Amino acid sequence: MSFDWWRTGSIYHVYPRSFMDANGDGVGDLEGIRGRLDHLADLGVDALWLSPVYPSPMADFGYDVADYTGIDPLFGTLEDFDRLLQDAHARGLRVILDLVANHTSDRHPWFEASRRARGDDKRAWYIWRDPAPGGGPPNNWLSEFGGPAWTLDARTGQYYLHSYLREQPDLNWRHPAVEEAVFGAVRFWLDRGVDGFRLDAISHLFKDDQFRDNPPNPSWRPEQGPYKRLIPLHVADLPETHAALARLRALVDGYPGRVLIGELYLPFERLVTYYGRHAAPEIHLPTNFVLLRIAWTAEEIARAIGEYEAALPQAGWPNWVLGNHDKSRVATRLGPAQARVAALLLLTLRGTPTIYYGDEIGMEDVPVAPEDVRDPWERNVPGLGLGRDPERSPMRWDAGPNAGFTTGTPWLPVGGDVERVNVAAQRADPGSPLALHRRLLALRRAEPALGAGSLLLLPRQGDVVAYERRHAGRALLVVANVAPEARRFDPGPRRGPVLLSTHAGGPEAIPGPFLLRPDEALVVLLSQAG
Ligand code: GLC
Repeated sequence: MSFDWWRTGSIYHVYPRSFMDANGDGVGDLEGIRGRLDHLADLGVDALWLSPVYPSPMADFGYDVADYTGIDPLFGTLEDFDRLLQDAHARGLRVILDLVANHTSDRHPWFEASRRARGDDKRAWYIWRDPAPGGGPPNNWLSEFGGPAWTLDARTGQYYLHSYLREQPDLNWRHPAVEEAVFGAVRFWLDRGVDGFRLDAISHLFKDDQFRDNPPNPSWRPEQGPYKRLIPLHVADLPETHAALARLRALVDGYPGRVLIGELYLPFERLVTYYGRHAAPEIHLPTNFVLLRIAWTAEEIARAIGEYEAALPQAGWPNWVLGNHDKSRVATRLGPAQARVAALLLLTLRGTPTIYYGDEIGMEDVPVAPEDVRDPWERNVPGLGLGRDPERSPMRWDAGPNAGFTTGTPWLPVGGDVERVNVAAQRADPGSPLALHRRLLALRRAEPALGAGSLLLLPRQGDVVAYERRHAGRALLVVANVAPEARRFDPGPRRGPVLLSTHAGGPEAIPGPFLLRPDEALVVLLSQAG
């Protein structure tokens, strides 16, 4: 197996609206990101993935794309983008864009043409259906963001499909011209030097061509939100998706060293099908969201590691994430102490890790008052905690006004506890989350066993998860106590010096059975492997 940068390296996810505002309008921009590249280089990551920066009416904050080959003026210009790319590359940082292929904005010229008349030559680029025989939507399909997935367009008397907002009409991937047009945009960015794409909402790409109703979900609970009321049998994970992805991969493979990452909220046995087949590979890294889904117990974590490893096809390279712009932050979900344990797992498990911006300084969700809600999902389906504003709060650079994010009024509140939770303060503090992330990333780079080695899951011991990583005769032991109390761990015959701990002042080596402190995780170099 070759060790491409995207296997051994780590990825940092930037939500551009919230990273750094260079022009004082309260929203982050490309110049802001460019000015903070040193933070990423210091941290020790290898690539940044930018959530969408294309021209957009911002109904879904950029995930409603009005032009696949431009930059929204809010974020800057194409020249700014080229400069960012150049400066990132000069520091050895790769740049990954977000490709929103499932849908466009309703203001994309393609959709404006498509909705103009039934006979328009772009009509079939989107999914139009007559009303049901008695009137109303063509079938029972639901929008992820609440309400039906169909909106009636009065001008032509037909409904169009939108898996998300009505401002995000779904493209019709059964029409060859759609693929051609989107692939053209992919080439545009690859030719500019972009290092890959994160494929947004990719499991929705194809829908049932007979438009059958989705079945009810028997285990639905109202607090899951209305979308979960049905099983998305006919709107997600359809077999046709694989052929389109294999064609996309073939295109991308024409450019050396590029990567495809897929957003796929699927169980392991479905997720791994997106690696593709040997003769027709698809996505390099189908995102593994399991750590966002499970209860944070040693039993669940060990099971997740074991089941994921077992499900991977031989050529399938693993990957891990703890958070993103759609989910509550890890430090909020697990608390600050276990967030450190989680970071150690993320950066020592086998596979490519992705760090969500701000998690490296332990940022927590920032609540947003109901009248200040920006996320359209929360606006459509209020009160269930589905809103995504809290995890999108501005990055904290220092303890100054607005945490150094903007000189204007930030588009979302910065939140409290800024004195402690900011980059400048943590840079000076060896016990900080930032220092821990830097140490972990440095260790990952120094130890091929972490970047490239095999993984052997050891039997769980109560609240302690443990595994070995091995490469070229070197073996590391990772031990993580997920309890807030001290726990005994018996390493068997394994001995060796402690290379890294979440805690200061521990033993320098493991002497045999020993006590892990509350919320402690460590990495040991095995001098005598078991
Ligand atoms: C993905 C994105 C999310 C967006 C949705 C629609 O799930 O991560 O932020 O709202 O797709 O594009």
